[in-house]
Amino acid sequence: MSSEEFTVTPWSVEGDIDYDKLMQKFGTEKISPELEARIEKIAGEVHPMLKLGYFFSHRDLDKILTEYEKGNKFYLYTGRGPSGKIHMGHLLPWIFTKYLQEKFDVNLIFQLTDDEKFLYSDQKSMEEVSKYTQENILDIIAIGFDPKKTKILIDTKDIKRIYPIALEIAKRITFSTVKAVFGFENSTNIGMIGFPPIQAAPCFLPSIIEGRPTPVLIPAAIDQDPYWRVTRDIAEKMGYPKPAQIHSKFLPGLGMQGKMSSSIPETAIFTTDTDDVVDKKISSTFTGGQPTVDLQRKLGANFSICPVFWYLRYFFDTEKESDERSRKCKGGQLLCGECKCNLKDATKPFLSEFKKQREKAKDQVDKFMFD
Ligand code: TRP
Repeated sequence: MSSEEFTVTPWSVEGDIDYDKLMQKFGTEKISPELEARIEKIAGEVHPMLKLGYFFSHRDLDKILTEYEKGNKFYLYTGRGPSGKIHMGHLLPWIFTKYLQEKFDVNLIFQLTDDEKFLYSDQKSMEEVSKYTQENILDIIAIGFDPKKTKILIDTKDIKRIYPIALEIAKRITFSTVKAVFGFENSTNIGMIGFPPIQAAPCFLPSIIEGRPTPVLIPAAIDQDPYWRVTRDIAEKMGYPKPAQIHSKFLPGLGMQGKMSSSIPETAIFTTDTDDVVDKKISSTFTGGQPTVDLQRKLGANFSICPVFWYLRYFFDTEKESDERSRKCKGGQLLCGECKCNLKDATKPFLSEFKKQREKAKDQVDKFMFD
């Protein structure tokens, strides 16, 4: 694959991603300064992840705000495929979702697609996926969502809540559509082919819970967009509002292009990693640096491909600190060792607090479940 090529599907993100091209290809819109200002007016502050462009693209976010301003509250809907442990890359969209829940004072449905992850993997047994489902729930609760306004939906357990809607959806989507949108082939197992309506169904669940058409906003990484494209096509025919989206970029893994991956453990910092492991992973990570210190001082380094830079930018640096860091990195005044130290020093206390919340979450699980 040449460096100009990239692929983004719900199951694979590879290459050096050109987000402008991706927006064009998917037909989404950039979050404009005007939209940001409208959010600021309601929320009181623009979250750094918006300001720094981590959340960068949307569909119908303007409509969601217009309805909200009229007093018509939306639901948030997001989810997780429980295929492994949770790493820091997963936390970003959830932290952002929590900010939206808090500032807009809205309900959230959080779907766990254990069925999807079972069907998708050749190796994983249902027992294994269920183990991750239970583990991942602790991480989700540890984010700090409001237990009174949040429901976690486990597909295999709560299927009765979504199956009737999923059927209505499934009847309206043809095989040729999902083949084109998701790239399914003749060799794809038929469980996968039938899965998209299950992820689409929670888009309409709020309307059913509330007993009237209720807008839904989905914060998610942009690789999930294909699901919402097919859902939007049929929503109005079914009498529901089209689900709106706010899309994030991917957080680069430590050591590769594309998103951080649980299936390559050394490229991800897990929420359960000890300080020693965090130190080791960050010490040995790939960076945007030159092969030698001399060269780096002379030529400067490439922060835009550097995971250390992006972690610091999205999690820990202020905008000012981050801009300063990028300037010095490019100019050769900053060496990779220093950025790695900064990242270690910030990550360890962050994770130690997160682990505490994760322990507390063990007693809270029931509050977040559908009955
Ligand atoms: N398919 C997603 C994944 O593999 C999980 C998911 C389900 C999701 N519903 C969602 C993600 C809604 C974002 C928004 O991770």
